[in-house]
Amino acid sequence: MNRLVVISNRVASSNKPASGGLAIAMEELLQRRGGIWFGWSGDIVDSETPTSDRIHINQDNLIIRITIDLTQQQHDSYYRGFSNDVLWPVFHNRVDLAKFDNFSFEGYQFVNKMFALAIQKFLRKDDIVWIHDYHLIPLASELRELNCHQRIGFFLHTPLPPPIILETIPQHRALMDALAAYNLIGFQTIQDVDHFRSYLEKRKTTYFSNKASNECYSIELNYKDFPIGIDTENFIEFSSQNAATDACQEIKQEYSQRRLIIGVDRLDYSKGLIHRVQALKELFRIYPENRKSATLIQVGSPTRETNLAYINVREEFESLCGAINGDFGELDWVPIRYLHQTLSREKLAGFYRAASVGMVTPLRDGMNLVAKEYVAAQNKEDPGVLILSQFAGAAEQMKEALLINPYDIKSTANAIQLALKMSKRERIERHQSLLQVIVEKNVHWWSSEFLNALISGKQLVSNRE
Ligand code: G6P
Repeated sequence: MNRLVVISNRVASSNKPASGGLAIAMEELLQRRGGIWFGWSGDIVDSETPTSDRIHINQDNLIIRITIDLTQQQHDSYYRGFSNDVLWPVFHNRVDLAKFDNFSFEGYQFVNKMFALAIQKFLRKDDIVWIHDYHLIPLASELRELNCHQRIGFFLHTPLPPPIILETIPQHRALMDALAAYNLIGFQTIQDVDHFRSYLEKRKTTYFSNKASNECYSIELNYKDFPIGIDTENFIEFSSQNAATDACQEIKQEYSQRRLIIGVDRLDYSKGLIHRVQALKELFRIYPENRKSATLIQVGSPTRETNLAYINVREEFESLCGAINGDFGELDWVPIRYLHQTLSREKLAGFYRAASVGMVTPLRDGMNLVAKEYVAAQNKEDPGVLILSQFAGAAEQMKEALLINPYDIKSTANAIQLALKMSKRERIERHQSLLQVIVEKNVHWWSSEFLNALISGKQLVSNRE
């Protein structure tokens, strides 16, 4: 078996667990298969620090974690700048929040080159290299410049927007041309694949040409959808173990007179948190019988806290929660319990299990693994109902959820009412179909589909049903 080298901006470790689906999936894969995990250490160092002192190597069981520190300027241009202030908003259809400038793009290219120089020394001829997410799009082309001929795959965890939005990025040509250096490009959904194809059609090419297009760059692009999953069996088992059932019992006891609705998200503007609580407010207004009987527990984990767009969304969300609690709450009932923290996976599993309704209502999302975790955590005999945004990648697979348009506040309120009133029979039927999808297409399926395709090099077609 070829050795696997995973490269992503964040590298999770036991003392620094990273959040998001990417980190969870890679940790699980590398624990099983072994290999190298390379990326940013999460630390910022003085620019005087020599490069050799900025690289850290740690072996933990089968995983060798190699990380590199960034200087403040690299962090501000590559991570905060181009990755978080350009690619993240544009890929989530929020061009209005993007801050386009050349400084951040230069920093982004520089750090990608620096990553290539740092990791190429560790690469063996027959390694398989798997690069993840929008931070590292140009990395393979930088590795090719250094004569690395390994098979290199790329997986985008976020959505890819349609050409008209992608083209707002002044450097979109250079960015997308760099994808030609990959042997395989993976997207979350068929819709992302369609967007990529229409971008290629608009550029009138199935190839990209760039400075080194004469040799290894001149490959026909191979791309396909590979919807990411969770470790479903493990999560099901884990949700019925002591720590999770204790958390579940505790919260059920505290809310014995209430129906629980749960939301778990990073506090990101893409997650639709403001629209979600507006829908809850609408529910209390049009179906007053839910007052005193339904409570939303919203976990909003801290994320990218120095970025203005995140500061603004947090302020707006918190003030709206305060206003709803003030307007509708009573001495013995708070409509929204908001926790600005990152909860342990045991607690989360318990909360999911205790909740009659799971709300996953992003305005845009690559996949959203909370939707899958919520389903896996349910008691099969008496499951809760998943309300899912049609704009989450997960909606392509999870058709038996109550699919909503999060911008349509009234319909979302109606969906919550429907979920709270749904018969046990219908809940069980919907849950069974959802469970089947996430058991079949779990994280093991995802990584082996991608890696097999990368290793075999066969030309692929998208998974249209
Ligand atoms: C999303 C991205 C990941 C990222 C995570 C957390 O899931 O797809 O690449 O690591 O968010 O964001 P952060 O900026 O803290 O790494």
